[in-house]
Amino acid sequence: MTKSLEDYLEEIHVLILQKGRARVRDVALDLHVKMPSVVKAITELKKLELVNQEPYGDIELTVKGRKLAANVLGRHNLLKAFLVKLNVPAETADKDACLMEHILSATTLDRIREFVEAAEKAPSKKKETK
Ligand code: FE2
Repeated sequence: MTKSLEDYLEEIHVLILQKGRARVRDVALDLHVKMPSVVKAITELKKLELVNQEPYGDIELTVKGRKLAANVLGRHNLLKAFLVKLNVPAETADKDACLMEHILSATTLDRIREFVEAAEKAPSKKKETK
């Protein structure tokens, strides 16, 4: 699947989590694309059996689509947490995480996960100073 289709899938998942539904209009607004681009992406995602949509209805994720979307979002959140740990400002971390989530290998992601988990367990500097 292309980077951009993963982004559409992720956005549909986020909208359903946040608003309870995903509409073409909202996907277009959030991803800063035109509605026909969303419709085109939905057609591709339907072919891959990742989403369902009745004519003019909400976009729904199939079981397969939900799994994949949750996986992309998980990568996004991990990479954002990692970048924030490196003192990257949250907004930049969010944008960069969305680029990195598509290209890093599973091995690298595993190491980053270990790093973030270890960093979260380590006592913060604030607590050390009295
Ligand atoms: Fe993302």
